[in-house]
Amino acid sequence: MNDATSFGVHRLWKDSFVSALQPGRRGPMKCIDVAGGTGDIALRILDHAREKHYDRETSVSVVDINAQMLKEGFRRFKKTMYHNTAQISFHEANAQELPSEVFPDNTFDLYTIAFGIRNCTSIPSVLKEAHRVLKPGGTFACLEFSRVNNPLLSTLYDQYSFTMIPLLGTILAGDRDSYQYLVESIRKFPPQPEFAKMIRDAGFVTGDHVDGGAWEDLWGGIACVHKGVKL
Ligand SMILES: C[S@@+](CC[C@H](N)C(=O)[O-])C[C@H]1O[C@@H](n2cnc3c(N)ncnc32)[C@H](O)[C@@H]1O
Repeated sequence: MNDATSFGVHRLWKDSFVSALQPGRRGPMKCIDVAGGTGDIALRILDHAREKHYDRETSVSVVDINAQMLKEGFRRFKKTMYHNTAQISFHEANAQELPSEVFPDNTFDLYTIAFGIRNCTSIPSVLKEAHRVLKPGGTFACLEFSRVNNPLLSTLYDQYSFTMIPLLGTILAGDRDSYQYLVESIRKFPPQPEFAKMIRDAGFVTGDHVDGGAWEDLWGGIACVHKGVKL
């Protein structure tokens, strides 16, 4: 369904999100991918580390609140070389209160969350937890639908979103309401400068917007990558 509503573009966004993070470039990393049930980001992280940097020690803890999503991720990983290795693990937990016995303070080098933070009821709680589990110097990276700034693109995008996505939801998944919710939740998510401020308020350094510091718009802001570093 993601493929149908985005014409597969979410895959390209995920590819560029992960390759820009360059996992494994400076040696093995401990990563946590939150709201990562499908395993899409975790798999890209491990593949990038292995293929580009010959790194077989980078690991990813995949966290999701939904056991079914985790099952799906686990099933996909079963077909990969990472299955049954220390490089991958799956955990059912809420991004807003990660269990500290499993995820102690200052544990991870990289925290990723893709198309997940929008679904969480408290964004500040998610960011606070991200800050807690990252090591000093660790990176927070978020890929999320965002705000389109160009008026023409914004009008076209609105028309597509409010008519086509719920229609595709009805036809392909028999579930108009979930896809209507998807469109509405995207509109409710804070615009880029506001979200960057929330990341800073959680204690991260985000850099300047100019030069790809605080965020990077993808496709005119249909999606956006935000990054922050824990000092
Ligand atoms: C649209 S999916 C994205 C999955 C994956 N990151 C990807 O990009 O393919 C959103 C995910 O967020 C998870 N989620 C929603 N609220 C959550 C929360 N509070 N804590 C952890 N995961 C959550 C859902 O279960 C779902 O798997």
